[in-house]
Amino acid sequence: MPETRTALITGASAGLGAEFARQLAARGDRLILVARRKEKLEALAESLRAKHGTEVHVLTGDLSLPETPAMLLEQVTELGLHVDVLINNAGIAGPHLLEDRDWAQQQAFFELMIVSVAHMCHHFVPGMVERGYGRVCNVASMAGRITRPAGANYGPAKAYVIALSKELHVLVSDKGVHVSALCPGFTHTEFHAAGGLDEMKRGLPSWVWYDADVVVAEGLAGMEAGRSVQISGRLYRIADVLARSPFVRPLINRTRR
Ligand SMILES: NC(=O)c1ccc[n+]([C@@H]2O[C@H](COP(=O)([O-])OP(=O)(O)OC[C@H]3O[C@@H](n4cnc5c(N)ncnc54)[C@H](OP(=O)(O)O)[C@@H]3O)[C@@H](O)[C@H]2O)c1
Repeated sequence: MPETRTALITGASAGLGAEFARQLAARGDRLILVARRKEKLEALAESLRAKHGTEVHVLTGDLSLPETPAMLLEQVTELGLHVDVLINNAGIAGPHLLEDRDWAQQQAFFELMIVSVAHMCHHFVPGMVERGYGRVCNVASMAGRITRPAGANYGPAKAYVIALSKELHVLVSDKGVHVSALCPGFTHTEFHAAGGLDEMKRGLPSWVWYDADVVVAEGLAGMEAGRSVQISGRLYRIADVLARSPFVRPLINRTRR
C-alpha cells in the first residue's frame, strides 16, 4: 500500500482552504488543518473523518504573529508527523498602505501575507528536499500579476508570493519537490465579506466569479504537474496575457478600486 501523505493547510476554516481540505481528503491524504477559528476547523475535521475516514489534526494559530510557524513545526513534530504537502493559503484583503494609518495593522498584514509564507517554507521545505518528495502550493492572486491602482498592499504581497514560488521551484524541483503559486481571480468565499468588500462584490458581473472547487482542482493539478505558476480559470488566463499588452495596460492603470 502506498504511504499516506500528510498535508498541512493554512486558512482551512473557510473558503479555498476548506476546499483544499475536502479535495486532499478525497485523494487519501492525512490532514493538518490550521486557522484561528477552532470550532470551524473541528466541524470540518469531523465531516472529513466521517466521509472519507481521514486522519485529521486541528492546530489553531494566528499567522500574523511571528512565532506561529515555529510553533506549528513543533506541534507537527510532537504528533510524530512530517509535512509532505504544504498549502500556504491563509490570507485577508488587508489595509490600504496610504489611507489606513495604523502601522501595527499594516505590519500584521505583512506578517500574514508575506513573512509567514516564507517562514512556513523555511521550516517545512528542507525536510521535503531531504526525503526527496514534497508539494507546496502558495495561494497568490491575479492581483499579484496585474498592477492596478488599488491599496498598494495586497497586490505587492501576492507578487512576492509568486516570485518566492518561482525561485523556490527552480531551487528544489530537481529534488522531487514541486512549488507552485496558485493565482485565482474573483472566487466565491468569505474573503470579500471578511474584508468589508461586499459592495464591490455586488458591483461585479457574475461571469467574473469562480467557485472554490474549480480553483482548488486547478491549483492541485498545477502543483502536481510541476507548474511554478498556475492561473485558475480561462477568463483569468486570457486577462493575464491581455494585461501585458501595451494597448490594455493604460486602461488598467486608469481604473480605481
Ligand atoms: N476569494 C478570492 O476572490 C481570492 C482571489 C485571489 C486570491 N485569494 C486568496 O485565497 C486565499 C484564501 O482566501 P479565501 O478567498 O478562501 O478567503 P476566506 O474564505 O476569507 O478564508 C480565509 C482563511 O484564512 C484564514 N486566516 C485569515 N487570517 C488569518 C490569520 N491571521 N492566521 C491564520 N489564518 C488566518 C481564515 O481563518 P480564521 O479566520 O479562522 O483564522 C480563513 O480560513 C487568500 O490567500 C486570498 O488572498 C482569494
